[in-house]
Amino acid sequence: MNKIYYQSLLDNNKKWVTNKLALDENYFSRLADGQQPPILWIGCADSRVPANEIIGAEPGEVFVHRNIANMVLHTDMNMLSVLDYAVNVLKVTHIIVCGHYGCGGVKAAMGNHQYGLIDNWIRHIKDVYRFHYEELNQIEDENERFARFVELNVKEQVYDLAKTSIVQSAWRAKQELHIHGWVYDIKDGIIDDLNVNFSDNTGLTEVYRLDL
Ligand code: CO
Repeated sequence: MNKIYYQSLLDNNKKWVTNKLALDENYFSRLADGQQPPILWIGCADSRVPANEIIGAEPGEVFVHRNIANMVLHTDMNMLSVLDYAVNVLKVTHIIVCGHYGCGGVKAAMGNHQYGLIDNWIRHIKDVYRFHYEELNQIEDENERFARFVELNVKEQVYDLAKTSIVQSAWRAKQELHIHGWVYDIKDGIIDDLNVNFSDNTGLTEVYRLDL
């Protein structure tokens, strides 16, 4: 990144502030009063999938957690902290796991190349491949298999969210909380709803259901 490009980012920020204030002089003072976003977004860290921008959301509307391949790992303190705060303090009513076609993390999980430290993260995605081995290995076209793997990974992360004690405890408390799985297509900008939804724990395999 050259210095001119770096400087332009700060210039862009000043222009953005000016534009926002021109439309609404209280824009920032209102945001400074606090946040009550209805949505928690769990997405990929990929630079081409900016959460707010692709759903037309303003600052204050979406609480965001992003990592490589939009994973929900129940030993990940970062994810758990975001989830706990979003559900128990902010009281979001929807959690969206949004994956995307062309995901580098998912692609890496399909292959055998060793990348280094990140292999430990990728391993979790490989587990998703194993869960769906029969379906995925029947798809001969590699691009189609890749796309399906992206979708199945989103679904598994939705299940993993529903399995968490944080989410199940909210349901037990009769808190309104819906979980959804989406996939974004980098090629055309369109988001598809994978229609994998949870609003209670009845859709979970019995062994994962906590007593409610
Ligand atoms: Co990705």
